[in-house]
Amino acid sequence: MSIDIGAIADFTNDEATKVSVEGRTLVVVRIQNDFYVLDDRCSHEDFPLSEGTVDVASCEIECARHGAMFSLVDGSPHSFPATKAVRTYKVETKNDRVEVTFS
Ligand code: FES
Repeated sequence: MSIDIGAIADFTNDEATKVSVEGRTLVVVRIQNDFYVLDDRCSHEDFPLSEGTVDVASCEIECARHGAMFSLVDGSPHSFPATKAVRTYKVETKNDRVEVTFS
């Protein structure tokens, strides 16, 4: 099921944006024309990743609470204290809109 989460222009480059849709809270990251969507919940201690910092060069997001780094591509943890992945979602752009797929 694909869900429209907004216009491409709604998302600021290189920043994390919180989006609530279909009962889920997501963090959406735009890097130029690429979009990444993950659950907005650090796997370490249930902290919103949308409050974190995007590392554009490495395509990661850093949790603001204890500094764990996660891949924006697959949600895998790249540094402690997190050891579990964060769920990621398929995302596409169509006609200037951003759509996330929930399976
Ligand atoms: S809550 Fe995210 S690293 Fe601890």
